[in-house]
Amino acid sequence: MDGYRAMGFARPYGQAEDHATDDTADALIGRSLDLGVTLVNSSDVYGGSEEAIGKAIARRRDQVVLATKFGIVQGPFDGAPAIINGRPKYVRERIERSLTRLGTDHVDLYYQHRVDPDTPIEEIRRAHAVHPITAVQTEWSLWSRDLEDEVFPLCRELGISVIPYGPLGRGMLTGKLTSFDDLPENDYRRKMPRFAREVFEANLAAVEIVRDIATAHDAAPGQVALAWLLAQAPDVVPIPGTLHVGRLTENAGGASLALTGDELKRLDALTVAGEREVSLDDNWSYGVTPPLGR
Ligand SMILES: NC(=O)c1ccc[n+]([C@@H]2O[C@H](COP(=O)([O-])OP(=O)(O)OC[C@H]3O[C@@H](n4cnc5c(N)ncnc54)[C@H](OP(=O)(O)O)[C@@H]3O)[C@@H](O)[C@H]2O)c1
Repeated sequence: MDGYRAMGFARPYGQAEDHATDDTADALIGRSLDLGVTLVNSSDVYGGSEEAIGKAIARRRDQVVLATKFGIVQGPFDGAPAIINGRPKYVRERIERSLTRLGTDHVDLYYQHRVDPDTPIEEIRRAHAVHPITAVQTEWSLWSRDLEDEVFPLCRELGISVIPYGPLGRGMLTGKLTSFDDLPENDYRRKMPRFAREVFEANLAAVEIVRDIATAHDAAPGQVALAWLLAQAPDVVPIPGTLHVGRLTENAGGASLALTGDELKRLDALTVAGEREVSLDDNWSYGVTPPLGR
């Protein structure tokens, strides 16, 4: 499990002004390693996170499983489509840049951040035949379960680990948000369909079920959300994000929480209102590329 919110440097939801400093990175990574949380997840588009991680791991590189990503040249905004690049030349350029920022000569996991519709490498079965894929990172949580239809079964078949991002439902499953108005004015989640005012109450009702199970274990709701993911398979490795050492410690506790079969079934039955993203167009979700040799 990763407790380190690499993405926090860019504050993905713009929810606060407390951008991480090098000291924050150092404290979070130090505490993570103390807790046995070794996977540090970043991307070449998470603001200054690669540089900060590089400084924080400089004297302990060998203790960290370091993951970063390439591929997003520009995210979708204001109705304009995203620009994604998966071409080999671009990949080589980006890995060199990431290695410089991270102050290391290798990363342990290198992901394509989003599917490039013009470069034929992403179809899992096809790419895996050329070079085995270690892991797929995708949104997966108690309330984002679309990968369970096809992606997860294929990953089982091919022996590919799954790294769920947004495992706390982007914060909602921690039970600490109580109303739409808890989200600061500039918080991106205000635009996300699941956080919309009209569905907020309905989605809070789902969180109450998580809280109920948590209470039975004297645990926090977020720990239950993480324990549910960890119960799916031994190589499912959720990466909850936080900038706070206390929350990191709480989240790591999810790894030692054992849910009963009945609790897992109750959690499996949770429902959520609203799409998981503002728009799932433009290959911002699962995409298809042309066949090799086109
Ligand atoms: N591959 C991709 O496209 C992609 C997309 C999104 C995210 N990611 C990765 O996945 C990581 C996690 O995803 P995410 O940050 O979107 O969602 P998440 O982990 O589901 O939720 C993070 C949110 O929950 C809050 N939080 C975390 N622990 C908490 C706790 N114990 N109590 C209360 N609030 C808590 C965080 O706020 P505070 O920071 O204020 O604690 C933050 O607002 C990111 O850091 C990033 O590395 C990857």
